[in-house]
Amino acid sequence: MIENKAELVKPYSDSGSKKEQIAEMFDNISERYDLLNHLLSLNIDKLWRRKAVRLIKPYNPSIMLDVATGTGDFAVELMPLNPKEIRGIDISAGMLEVGKAKMRRRKLSDTITLELGDAENIGYNDNYFEGVTVAFGVRNFEDLRKGLSEILRVLKPRYPVVVLEFSKPRSFPWKQLYNFYFSFVLPLIGKTVSKDARAYTYLPESVKAFPEGKDFISILQEVGFKKVTEYRVTFGIATIYLAEK
Ligand SMILES: C[S@@+](CC[C@H](N)C(=O)[O-])C[C@H]1O[C@@H](n2cnc3c(N)ncnc32)[C@H](O)[C@@H]1O
Repeated sequence: MIENKAELVKPYSDSGSKKEQIAEMFDNISERYDLLNHLLSLNIDKLWRRKAVRLIKPYNPSIMLDVATGTGDFAVELMPLNPKEIRGIDISAGMLEVGKAKMRRRKLSDTITLELGDAENIGYNDNYFEGVTVAFGVRNFEDLRKGLSEILRVLKPRYPVVVLEFSKPRSFPWKQLYNFYFSFVLPLIGKTVSKDARAYTYLPESVKAFPEGKDFISILQEVGFKKVTEYRVTFGIATIYLAEK
């Protein structure tokens, strides 16, 4: 069985629940999260979300769930699919508050509803959603297999999940540049702007420990997903996984 070492990487302390520490960390950085996201990724994260949306377009989903929605950026990207309803769940009340204000500002609150909810115990019926998305969320789950099983449960048969997550470039010079940026530049900017020193050292540590590529594909298949494919984007800095129930 493939081990997910990222479950052992916690933001603040080795003891205690990862889930509580993750919620606390994202509460701490919620006000600066969007700014830092776009600053640190030079907006490339937007292109990745858009590619992920193109992959689910052929399924024509009408009721969708964005898991670990944070401030709701992935939910917003789903709007061109013209869904009837988008629900976003997250365990950080702080991130959701920023997201709700964003939906009100953009007049999207009629379609996009953001609410407190745990990926590992999703409060919806079996076979309810016609598409589920998760961006930069699964690496933070306390129990990855439980979260993925819950996603499978709430999906309708033959409908897709798309998971966007960081991965690690493998070839020269991207691997070396990435290591320098992720291990030194990003923690420094993150610490200065967010005022939470740990949040942006947790990020590279958790990415390093997370099973990517064929290991993550094996976990998706083990949980019960079918037709699993991966798309490495921007030299492998991130990977989009597409799978069906
Ligand atoms: C890096 S943010 C990503 C937010 C958003 N998806 C995006 O693309 O910007 C990760 C989010 O995952 C949430 N999260 C972590 N574990 C979770 C869980 N078990 N259930 C729901 N949300 C979770 C965190 O609270 C945080 O808001």
